Amino acid sequence: MPTEHNAHEEGPSAFPQAATLELRNVSKRYPGQREPAIADLSLSVAAGEVCVLVGASGSGKTTAMRLINRMIALSGGDILLGGRSVLDREPNELRREIGYVIQQVGLFPHQTVSANIAIVPRLLGWDKPRIAARVQELLELIGMDPGEVGSRYPAQLSGGQRQRVGVARALAADPPLMLMDEPFGAVDPINRARLQDEFLRLRERVRKTVVFVTHDIDEAIKMGDRIAILRQGGQLAQHDTPAELLTNPADDFVAEFVGADRALKRLGLATLADVKLIAPNGSRPGPARGTVQVTATVRDALSKLLAAGGAPLTVIDWREEVAGIVTLELLGGLLEGGALRGEAALRGNGPPGGDGAPGDSDQASGRSPGEPARTPKTAS
Ligand SMILES: Nc1ncnc2c1ncn2[C@@H]1O[C@H](COP(=O)(O)OP(=O)(O)OP(=O)(O)O)[C@@H](O)[C@H]1O
Ligand SMILES: [Mg+2]
Repeated sequence: MPTEHNAHEEGPSAFPQAATLELRNVSKRYPGQREPAIADLSLSVAAGEVCVLVGASGSGKTTAMRLINRMIALSGGDILLGGRSVLDREPNELRREIGYVIQQVGLFPHQTVSANIAIVPRLLGWDKPRIAARVQELLELIGMDPGEVGSRYPAQLSGGQRQRVGVARALAADPPLMLMDEPFGAVDPINRARLQDEFLRLRERVRKTVVFVTHDIDEAIKMGDRIAILRQGGQLAQHDTPAELLTNPADDFVAEFVGADRALKRLGLATLADVKLIAPNGSRPGPARGTVQVTATVRDALSKLLAAGGAPLTVIDWREEVAGIVTLELLGGLLEGGALRGEAALRGNGPPGGDGAPGDSDQASGRSPGEPARTPKTAS
């Protein structure tokens, strides 16, 4: 494959990487409606951030998306993309900078998969070899065989495959902003998890600003850097990281929205590598005690502890060495009154690179670089 057409390096990019997005006092009243669909919404999304919009049906999520790419007109306020008002842009040109994935995918039925993906690059006047290379690369990126799938028509794909092609098409010209309106809504749970994982992997390589709409709070927690919860009328109930939403919901509406099991969900965001484990005191992995990998989420470790009848588990790191011991009491101590106690018990808020705090010496906290049982977050 020619390296100058490398999607992973964003080689053929028509646009700069990711852009900031800012909604300023946005309102939208549809003609003939008494109540505005969106009354006064302000929301900032940093460049490269995934902002997930959640909210009840009719709370204005799709309306917000369509205002951003000017498919419908603002009634008030302004929207800035990369610091520039969308109102100053020519709508067609603006839309080429915004990848849009809608729930029903909207592939053109009489065009092949390759032709569908190539739509925006063609509009941008790319030459044929560049388009062909980009299409091939995107199909590989979404895990589909270009030779086999490229010449098929949308009707010859499964629903999940069509959604992946929809994502590839939205990514084609490497837009600085992606709007994804329930992109995985119509997919079964297994393929949905697969698409989510694919998308997360994709985003490690191709950094984009993304607005992602879903009704599924678990999907929001998994996909979002930050989550914006909307009430009716596009009122922002809370805009925060998944951890903050789960730990400190702003009010009863948000608490209900994130679910009664929010403490458990919060445990799903941390891994055992984030927890101060009990010092192993020279114990070795062996048949005497069950084991759990340090990469397991705290939630999964809790399940495993419960399944083991509450007996302590040995935590194994990436070198198959003992990182520490985890017990029901230890994890129970992370929970208080149905929510996680502050971040004190979790290592995630420590300075990057570790500080080797003196108080940590009797704990297999993993903070001290010299500690043998330490598991680095990223293997070198
Ligand atoms: N073209 C339209 N004309 C009049 N009212 C509309 C129009 N489109 C949407 N609305 C109304 O605006 C409000 C917000 O609709 P919107 O489609 O943005 O909701 P949503 O949050 O995307 O809902 P869902 O989760 O069901 O997709 C709703 O009350 C809806 O009935
Ligand atoms: Mg909608």
